[in-house]
Amino acid sequence: MASAIFCIVPILFSLLLLPCEAHVIIHPFEYIYQLGDSLADTGNLICQSATTGKTPAAAHLPYGESFRGGPTGRCSNGLLIIDFVAIALSLPLLNPYLDSNATFDHGANFAVAGSTALDYTFFTTKGVYNPSTNISLGDQLNWFKSHLNTICLTPAECKEVLSKALVFVGEIGGNDVNHPLIQGKSIQEIYTYLPYTIEAITNAIRVSFYMIIIKEVIHLGAVNIVVPGNVPIGCLPVGLTVVSGGNETAYDDMGCSKELNELALVQNNYLQESLSLLRQEFSHADIIYADYYTAYKTILYGAADFGFDEKSLLKSCCGIGGLYNYDHNRECGSRGVPVCRNPTQYISWDGIHLTQEAYRHITEILLPDILPGIRYI
Ligand SMILES: *[C@@H]1O[C@H](CO)[C@@H](O)[C@H](O)[C@H]1NC(C)=O
Ligand SMILES: *[C@@H]1O[C@H](CO)[C@@H](O)[C@H](O)[C@H]1NC(C)=O
Ligand SMILES: *[C@@H]1O[C@H](CO)[C@@H](O)[C@H](O)[C@H]1NC(C)=O
Repeated sequence: MASAIFCIVPILFSLLLLPCEAHVIIHPFEYIYQLGDSLADTGNLICQSATTGKTPAAAHLPYGESFRGGPTGRCSNGLLIIDFVAIALSLPLLNPYLDSNATFDHGANFAVAGSTALDYTFFTTKGVYNPSTNISLGDQLNWFKSHLNTICLTPAECKEVLSKALVFVGEIGGNDVNHPLIQGKSIQEIYTYLPYTIEAITNAIRVSFYMIIIKEVIHLGAVNIVVPGNVPIGCLPVGLTVVSGGNETAYDDMGCSKELNELALVQNNYLQESLSLLRQEFSHADIIYADYYTAYKTILYGAADFGFDEKSLLKSCCGIGGLYNYDHNRECGSRGVPVCRNPTQYISWDGIHLTQEAYRHITEILLPDILPGIRYI
């Protein structure tokens, strides 16, 4: 695992050297900050659950079974995309912000498993319950600001720090869809929940909620921002299980749900249109869209080349029941739920999240997109 990643580093730097003007001095980022959900949480939900008393499944085996340190709260058998990005940049793995014993010398992780983009109360008023956390993207932004107050004294100093930081805002918004879907809301209704269409009024201009957060991150001084989109949720065991039963016209050539993938694509298209507007408004910043959707499709369609078992592409490694080895009432980590013998042959870890192997390949696909466009000062 490590050897495959370390060989990326020289490739990265050679890619970077090619298009660079001679007057630009190159050095790697010194900090990484991450806002997001379970695709990026490295332990925050465990820390938060110390106050709520509900220990998340990811605190226990088989979560973390392929990671030297064991379970950490990462929703996978091992490392996540943000970990592989840190390794590629020769930075330490990001500690969860809520861990009072952790150090944050090279950044911090604010992502919480189960977080939504829209506020907790937006969903409770719709009758949608968040089974994991009441933390949303806005709360994470407030943590980010509090953290900055501990490491820089003036706005100018904070801008100096953030000029050397790679800031991931997302993936977030997946749970705004997943929770209502699992809880029986119609796809038609879920289209009205997307954080890119819910608008707020600031300075008399209507902008989407998600964009307000990204703008605030830029106002704090971030100039290297990565905004990932949603994955093809119609290819995940959880999505397929929720919509199961349709006739063959409901599925694409890979067996993924067309209407759920369409929902993710609409979400991603809104996001990309909004990012184009942000790029016009903030030309000094590099705002990169990380196409998780296409990267996921790439490993799905090239499964054999990536070493995945072609008969298990839509099945959870850790899970039980049904066509997709997933049962919402008996999730990975529950008593008696088996784990596949070789997670490196599976894309899906627990029906919702991916295996370390899938995350590693997705990162390798995305790194050339994420890094060359980014300004090295
Ligand atoms: C921090 O460290 C102390 C002493 O080692 C330990 O008792 C405590 O549980 C730790 N807290 C967290 C959040 O890990
Ligand atoms: C989340 O819930 C905890 C415990 O009930 C509470 O202390 C905290 O203020 C809540 N946070 C938010 C952002 O709602
Ligand atoms: C398949 O399902 C769709 C949507 O429910 C329906 O419109 C269509 O007529 C069905 N086709 C067949 C062959 O049953």
